[in-house]
Amino acid sequence: MKKILAFAMASAMVLSLAACGGGTSTSSSKSSAPATSGTQDSSSSSAAPSGSFTTVEAGKLHMSTNAEFPPYEMLDDAGNPIGIDVEVAAAIANKLGLELVVDDMGFDAALLAVQNGQSDIAMAGITVSEDRLAKMDFTDSYATGVQVVIVKEGSDVTMDNLGEKMIGTQMGTTGYIYASDTPDNGGYGEDHVIGYETGAVAVQALVSGQVDAVIIDNLPAQSYVEANAAAGLTILEGTWVEEDYAIALQKGNTELMAAVNGALNELKADGTFQGIVDKYITAD
Ligand code: ARG
Repeated sequence: MKKILAFAMASAMVLSLAACGGGTSTSSSKSSAPATSGTQDSSSSSAAPSGSFTTVEAGKLHMSTNAEFPPYEMLDDAGNPIGIDVEVAAAIANKLGLELVVDDMGFDAALLAVQNGQSDIAMAGITVSEDRLAKMDFTDSYATGVQVVIVKEGSDVTMDNLGEKMIGTQMGTTGYIYASDTPDNGGYGEDHVIGYETGAVAVQALVSGQVDAVIIDNLPAQSYVEANAAAGLTILEGTWVEEDYAIALQKGNTELMAAVNGALNELKADGTFQGIVDKYITAD
């Protein structure tokens, strides 16, 4: 009996994920209590996963991020958050009948906000790692990140002698976590790694000679190298580490997880996702 029930529930979940019911947002009056947003509306033909879910603020999808990570998230000249993550999150919110609110903060804070239920999703080019899986839940992956090494042109730093050098990273990122790990775990030890507030500050430290190399995700790396063309930076050949990016949610928020994952997969299937990526990443 139990088994049959479980199976029935599993197929119901699959069905509801596959169903393209229109998400409607029911904005209830504001209160400090979590508001229910998004109710089942199987009659509509517009795409959105059905089911009910709760968001921090009625009618809104709060995304915590660290807008210092081009092209995934950065601020435009007017100070508005833009980038792949921001646009994908907006498209997800749209599918769920919600309005996206971007909460920009430090990277560590963005991860904490979602764990503590202060934001609905964290999207910040976040790498799925075992440690993080213990603290938050992740959607399906939406991108591959590759950690690379930025050095000054003509420097003697190689992939093999990083352990003898000073390495700059962004605090709280996998670049920091892995590089500062002990040598028997593939790291270089804490003494060899400095965590800066942002990737851009880490790159400034490289330009000014405080560190010999910066370990950071490949797309921001390219953007920082371009932005500092006068300083003559270059990316070492080779991949330091390859990882998956996904959207983080608070642990156990299964309804919102199903809705966000459903929306994400629809955006992948209908080409919207790729359209957003292509806007920001031009093949060279
Ligand atoms: N992928 C790396 C990580 O998850 C770096 C992400 C940094 N993202 C940001 N928006 N600053 O640790």
